[in-house]
Amino acid sequence: MSDVDDATVERAAELLRAGGLVALPTETVYGLGADAANPAAIAKVFAVKGRPTSHPLIVHIADATQLDRWATGITPLARRLAERVWPGPLTLVLPRSASVIDAVTGGQSTVAVRVPAHPLTLAILRRFGGGVAAPSANRFGKVSPTTADHVRADLGSDVDLIVDGGPCTVGLESTIVDLSRGDEHAAILRPGGLGPEDLAAIVGRALPLHTSHAVRVPGQPDAHYAPRARVIAVEASALDTTLASLDDTSIGVIVEGPAAGGPQWIATQRGWRVVIDPDRELARHLYAVLRELDARGCGVIVATLPAAERLGLAIADRLVRAAAARNT
Ligand code: TXA
Ligand code: MG
Repeated sequence: MSDVDDATVERAAELLRAGGLVALPTETVYGLGADAANPAAIAKVFAVKGRPTSHPLIVHIADATQLDRWATGITPLARRLAERVWPGPLTLVLPRSASVIDAVTGGQSTVAVRVPAHPLTLAILRRFGGGVAAPSANRFGKVSPTTADHVRADLGSDVDLIVDGGPCTVGLESTIVDLSRGDEHAAILRPGGLGPEDLAAIVGRALPLHTSHAVRVPGQPDAHYAPRARVIAVEASALDTTLASLDDTSIGVIVEGPAAGGPQWIATQRGWRVVIDPDRELARHLYAVLRELDARGCGVIVATLPAAERLGLAIADRLVRAAAARNT
């Protein structure tokens, strides 16, 4: 793991204080960070991402004791989740405190907050002292970055500093839990790096998946997380018939299977077959593999949907959204 380099920490904190944009490593994906109390800095985040200002940002804090600065109505379950999971891949949505600026929340009455698990970013948050609003550090709708190189390729000179903390260990965005309407109405708004079973073990029951973020719901999911290639997400049982039906000449196939030591790239007559160990390994490598298949010129990517359990729930969610990008 990366050592915490004091000069980098100081430079990042200074840039944040000055209203700059700093790309930060987290355990989930890299974030495009700015001072959450500075409207001009937040405006730059939306401009660089090309994101509609109605899509609110997550505020990143150094530890759970800062939660009260950002949120009110912090429920017992919110306290318990914060204590058990933070630093970690969980975002809590709570009623916002009066001081939170509209630019961060998109004018909503709630705010999303999390403590990320990366030593470098935690050191920066502590040195900076305030909250850092950070969406994933990619252009709106595209694949999230899980390495500093991904951020460089996507945002380059549009950020003031890219802090390199190595590849993200979880590789999927945080799980978002809404507690703004009380513990009895707790719901998952976005499946993510904390699996539903782990969440249920802390909550004492399974939480419903609410939302436009739900997977396999009727209707069109929002297009998001999309590589350049067209994505087709299929059940494993439908893989062969799907491949037989395609006349494309450059196809990337992503399947789950035994692959010790990371994704295995197998050249095929029509492109690449990438085998990745299920669950945590698939989550960790998925975005990098989507980017690499783009780089190798695949026009279409066929990915098998994992079972909707553990991290498979979030992986399937991202694949379905990536697939929706070309159907809308
Ligand atoms: O893992 C993560 O969550 C990463 C890292 C950088 O922390 N961040 C991330 O941010 O994925 P972004 O902006 O790509 O996604 C934030 C999500 C959006 O879907 C947004 O709608 C939701 O959080 N969100 C933010 N504030 C909210 C609120 N007040 N109520 C409901 N959803 C909210
Ligand atoms: Mg994002």
